[in-house]
Amino acid sequence: MRQAGRYMKSYQVICEKYPSFRERSENVDLVVEISLQPWKVFKPDGVILFSDILTPLSGMNIPFDIVKGKGPVIFDPIHTAGQVDQVREFIPEDSVPYVGEALTILRKEVDNKAAVLGFVGAPFTLASYVVEGGSSKHFSKIKRLAFSEPKILHSLLQKFTTSMARYIQYQADNGAQAVQIFDSWATELSPVDFEQFSLPYLKQIIDTVKKSHPELPLILYASGSGGLLERIALTGVDVVSLDWTVDMADGRRRLGPNIAVQGNVDPGVLFGSRELITDRIYDTVRKAGRGKHILNLGHGIVVGTPEENVAHFFEVAKGIRY
Ligand code: CP3
Repeated sequence: MRQAGRYMKSYQVICEKYPSFRERSENVDLVVEISLQPWKVFKPDGVILFSDILTPLSGMNIPFDIVKGKGPVIFDPIHTAGQVDQVREFIPEDSVPYVGEALTILRKEVDNKAAVLGFVGAPFTLASYVVEGGSSKHFSKIKRLAFSEPKILHSLLQKFTTSMARYIQYQADNGAQAVQIFDSWATELSPVDFEQFSLPYLKQIIDTVKKSHPELPLILYASGSGGLLERIALTGVDVVSLDWTVDMADGRRRLGPNIAVQGNVDPGVLFGSRELITDRIYDTVRKAGRGKHILNLGHGIVVGTPEENVAHFFEVAKGIRY
């Protein structure tokens, strides 16, 4: 989840000096520096590449920006077959060489003291941004496309699928030791529509990457995934990230014994007392049971979270003995 981010003073200082998100996330030195900020302070077991799921878009001929106070903006939202034809397949080494360089440097800096983690957006979630033009509340534009012109949406989803499989391979080849796929908005779909517009594409990405990189752990996150867990288990992913709307013991049972779980502490808990934070960590750990669990928050750290509470989370987590 988002480790770096606006809750850290040190990140805010960089944002003042470099106000453009694109610059912060596309300049190798800044990417490395920001990725290492939380690791230097809290020493988590994973270091997340500082980037965004939308970073590949410009290399696919979809111009975008991330605007302060507004979030992602797609300049020319996609609605027609002609526009989908203009979408280029993503060649990471040509379009985002700074990602590979940053991952390589991060591996050296971290020196196996933590795992370096990459990530990509899932086809449906990326499509939701490029069709809606940015963040959305009702997802009406992508649903209009899904339910009136499904062929157009499917051809866009296929382009993202091929491109993101290649992007995961590129990240792994340059040092990422596990990669998370974010299908943040998949749960906006009903289960039957998830089976059409998300599941087959996730499966295709996972199958492709498993063929070339069988040892690379793949993690899948979807916000509010409680209605979809059995279907998510069908993707073939190694680890499922659970947010806090699912009871960890239920999630575990519904995903079955072969899938590891990550999460599922509510990031809002970090606004509570040290005792509350400790209790919630133990509750999640107890419910997850032994093994196959990565303790984590159920989503990114919220802006305004006291850094000392984040430090407390790590102190408690590191003190747990099985
Ligand atoms: O841990 C890390 O530091 C990794 C960095 C990371 C970012 N985005 C940086 C970022 C990761 C893992 C993401 C993933 C991402 N981006 C997702 C999937 C995760 C999720 O939240 O479900 C999504 C949907 C996006 C798209 C996106 N990028 C949105 C909706 C926003 C606006 C969010 C907001 O609160 O304003 C962004 C911008 C963004 N990406 C920020 C960060 C730290 C905040 C803006 C900034 O720092 O200037």
